[in-house]
Amino acid sequence: MPEFQLDNQTVTFEQGQSIMQAASNASVYIPHLCFHEEFSAHGSCRVCMVKVDGRYLSACTIPAKQDMVVFNLTDDVQRYRRQLLEMLFIEGNHLCPGCEKSGGCTLQSVAIFCGMVSPNLDFQYPKRSVDASHPDFILDYNRCINCELCVRASREVDRKSVFGMSGRGRDNHLVVNTKSGLLGDSTLQINDRAASICPVGALLIKHRGFSTPIGARKFDINPLPHHRAAKNE
Ligand code: SF4
Ligand code: FES
Repeated sequence: MPEFQLDNQTVTFEQGQSIMQAASNASVYIPHLCFHEEFSAHGSCRVCMVKVDGRYLSACTIPAKQDMVVFNLTDDVQRYRRQLLEMLFIEGNHLCPGCEKSGGCTLQSVAIFCGMVSPNLDFQYPKRSVDASHPDFILDYNRCINCELCVRASREVDRKSVFGMSGRGRDNHLVVNTKSGLLGDSTLQINDRAASICPVGALLIKHRGFSTPIGARKFDINPLPHHRAAKNE
């Protein structure tokens, strides 16, 4: 099988696989937010950035190639990741201590893994809304990181396209594809793939808040990197 070097480890791959997929198969964790093995790669968060033959590229979208030399957990790559994560934290309203997803939040867990302590940038405190119109879900736009996992899950798996994106650049934001723009008028259902895909606390299921005690939450028990996260999230 063809192979390449990843942090001085030999990783084999199948033709057509991305660096992320090859690394995942080899149980090597590359930090990521918008990648999910069930869906098409999106390449928007850039947290999976690796250094490939001297260039910084996103591991989830770049195909693996024979003999390429890739660095993942080096100081410079991790520093860039921390800067990206800081930007995600300051551009939204991520109040972790009061968030129901704390301890199970991938953004929080990736930030801890990458060594992000406190953002060096000013918090922007944007004014965003909370949509509680659906009987089973809360959609808190304050915590949305525009990863589009719910968009892809709803479109590619549920075949509903409940979610979409609107705006460009800093104005890029999640929308609900209903006339009113409210989730309560959508066809989102509790068993939909999109209903449980959100990596942060933006799309939450009602009626069971804070049900897992501190110490027993997902990343309390199994902090990153762990193989399941590398493969599935
Ligand atoms: Fe991603 Fe969640 Fe925002 Fe959807 S609601 S785009 S899954 S952060
Ligand atoms: Fe690769 Fe987001 S750009 S995981």
